[in-house]
Amino acid sequence: MLEKFSRRTFAKLAGLASFGIGSSAAAAQPARAEAPGPKLAPGGFPNGFVWGTATSAYQVEGAVNEDGRGPSIWDTFSHQPGHIADGTSADRANDHYHRYKEDVGLIRELGVKHYRFSIAWPRVFPDGTGTPNPKGLDFYDRLLDELLANGIEPYATLYHWDLPQALQDRFGGWQSSETSKAFADYCGYVAQRITDRVKFLFTLNEVGRFLNFGYGWGIDAPGLKLPPKELNQARHHVALAHGLAVQAIRAQGRAGTKVGPAENIAACLPAIDTPENVRAAEIATRELNAGFLNVIIEGKYTDHFLDYAGANAPTFTADELKIIGARNDFIGLNIYAPQFYVVASDKVPGFSVLPFPSSFPHMKSDWLRIGPETAYWVPRLAAKVWKLDTIYITENGTSSTDQVMPDGKIYDLDRIMFLRNYLTQLQRSIADGAPVRGYFLWSLMDNFEWIFGFEQRFGLYHVDFDTLARKPKLSVEFYRNVIARNSVDA
Ligand code: BGC
Repeated sequence: MLEKFSRRTFAKLAGLASFGIGSSAAAAQPARAEAPGPKLAPGGFPNGFVWGTATSAYQVEGAVNEDGRGPSIWDTFSHQPGHIADGTSADRANDHYHRYKEDVGLIRELGVKHYRFSIAWPRVFPDGTGTPNPKGLDFYDRLLDELLANGIEPYATLYHWDLPQALQDRFGGWQSSETSKAFADYCGYVAQRITDRVKFLFTLNEVGRFLNFGYGWGIDAPGLKLPPKELNQARHHVALAHGLAVQAIRAQGRAGTKVGPAENIAACLPAIDTPENVRAAEIATRELNAGFLNVIIEGKYTDHFLDYAGANAPTFTADELKIIGARNDFIGLNIYAPQFYVVASDKVPGFSVLPFPSSFPHMKSDWLRIGPETAYWVPRLAAKVWKLDTIYITENGTSSTDQVMPDGKIYDLDRIMFLRNYLTQLQRSIADGAPVRGYFLWSLMDNFEWIFGFEQRFGLYHVDFDTLARKPKLSVEFYRNVIARNSVDA
């Protein structure tokens, strides 16, 4: 289970064990943003700020055997005993495949005008490659029409972990660059078909999660525990898939289509806000994201990453790096827990990661430590380190117990507390110059929370998984108010 895996394990797998704990100062740099932020009223967000919400295909759609969909690695994995905490699978999930009209109605009621969903690759190419399923995009065509008829702008993610099982069987999934090529072909095809209506495409959701958990620790699908060299190689193939997909989308999508990743950036924060520690957090942001975000933005692996990996470094060519470094129109960041509190260090490369005390508070999910300042520092540091001009927060949200009270209502005050604090910090980040253009709250409704099954609820709308009835939680009212005022303040 997720909780059993400490951040230290993560650090080790990400190739970071060389960053010891120390406290002396590295060369200090100015801590504040270079560009001044927009003039904002207290708590206010910029005009035109994109307020959205998000879901993903496998977590909500159900209908896994309909209209020619092929199996994905998550179908296989969830059906094997012992993998999902409550013994469920997403065979039916929210039955969104059939109830999408009702769900678009929920988005409208929320006052949200931007919706991020994902397209299931195995619906479009049941075997991963080859001939597209003639009915593969029909559902998404219907969904897009419904969204647009309701004045809601669609944002499509092309990969939210549901790899066609056929590619896992044939090539070992992301262990082969054949999968990278298949992904680009699929993305090009989808871009051709939907960019008349969809302007924003996200390539891959949370590489940092699906690679480490699925191919490194055996917790997520496909359940592999690869040795470090093979894991790094698989990560390289995913980075290559991203670059090839960007190229395919630009070649086959309509002019003006915007493309970028949606990544769970390793969130690095200064433990104490001093110029030295902020500088250390900048270095950490680059180094602890060396395996994916940094390489797709800079088109190269950092020296420290390669030195540390040594014989376990991925094998790659200069041409591949060029493809991987294809320009992104924006960077999407999923922000949840603070992951690494750092301080400056004399030791190369200039930062130390501090251990978490066991009393550090968390939300309903043990892994979801509460650190609202994550929403301040992560966009600020990412913008500074990679000179970004357009960032979307592609996910942020929390689980809660979400009890239905005797009056039939759900008073999810902990979720409201979490959101209020994260949004307050995000606003401060924007006011200080972070170029954040939008925010997608995870999630529209409770859904299949991967290895936790239906036990962990992240939705704004409650779902009764027996009757599939949806009902608003108190946080619907909270978010609707924030959007209406374009502000976290009253
Ligand atoms: C994922 C979602 C997931 C959420 C909450 C992110 O890691 O993209 O699919 O449900 O966080 O755990």
